[in-house]
Amino acid sequence: MQMGPVLAAPYHLSEDEGSEPHTYARASNPGWTGLESALAELEGVSHALVTGSGMSAITVVLRSVLSAGDVLVVPSDGYYQVRLYARERLARWGIEIREASVHEMVDAAVGAAVVIAETPSNPTLDTVDLAAVAAATTGLLVVDNTTATPLGQNPVALGADVVVASGTKALSGHSDLLAGYIGTNDADLHTAFARERLLSGSVLGPFETWLAHRSLGTAGLRFGRQCENALAVAESLSGTSTVSGVRYPGLPADPSFAVASAQMRRFGGLVSFDLGSARAVHEFVKKSELISAATSFGGIHTTADRRQRWGDPVPDGFVRLSCGIEDTVDLVADIERALN
Ligand SMILES: Cc1ncc(COP(=O)(O)O)c(C=O)c1O
Repeated sequence: MQMGPVLAAPYHLSEDEGSEPHTYARASNPGWTGLESALAELEGVSHALVTGSGMSAITVVLRSVLSAGDVLVVPSDGYYQVRLYARERLARWGIEIREASVHEMVDAAVGAAVVIAETPSNPTLDTVDLAAVAAATTGLLVVDNTTATPLGQNPVALGADVVVASGTKALSGHSDLLAGYIGTNDADLHTAFARERLLSGSVLGPFETWLAHRSLGTAGLRFGRQCENALAVAESLSGTSTVSGVRYPGLPADPSFAVASAQMRRFGGLVSFDLGSARAVHEFVKKSELISAATSFGGIHTTADRRQRWGDPVPDGFVRLSCGIEDTVDLVADIERALN
């Protein structure tokens, strides 16, 4: 690892101008290229770029390709700040915004310049049939792979032109950094994204780069346990009378199961459910010994978020639970105790 901003200094420029692999840290640096080649391999794409956060990955892509008059489709039931960016910024710059739920994506995609699909969606964990949306998309299909991670699904192999994700969540997994990445097989798009990252300065810091790369070594183990825990918790919650609306794409009875099993290798560490009221959610978190309240997800400790507090279109008592890597029996027992 080389630390910035002095990272710029060791790059002594050559007399043979243009032959240097790296010239200035905001354009490229060895820390990024190591992490980018690992992410490209995980996503099964030829090109990857790291950015300072998941939001910067998404906004770099959008600013690179959209022009005034274009139609952009964003999920109405996905991560809410993507909608806010579209409404508060892109609409002002002459982009027409269509908000579509997972179930409306295929129809909304027709005629759009860019479609952003998020699957499984955060927080309701509905799945988008990526092959169907890819077939309907005449523009560019961008898939947010944050909740599934590249260990759970590879959107480009399923028909997406571009994959974006927050590396802040299960991919890095320790709730100690913000990061994002963009992947594609299209060299021209990759060049456009790299240009936008350079000019807008949407960069990942050197320490985060090193931490994220180091975290990939345990990603398989962590994510495997998170998925096992999520399935066990979802099964337990499904049989609990005070809990309704349990959603987990890996539960055979879940409405997402058919699509999820066709396109995912693993179903992720998130489970959602309804406890009926905000008060019941607060009681649940207070009584649990293993769960704390947090709005991020994907870390090694189990956390719960009452999503309505952020304005998501869900009931007051809706919980998005992010399963950590605790012992499965301990975690299920703790949750059952907290709910009884
Ligand atoms: C699905 C999804 N995409 C993107 C983001 C943004 O990621 P970041 O917080 O790293 O900017 C989030 C954050 O929660 C998310 O859940």
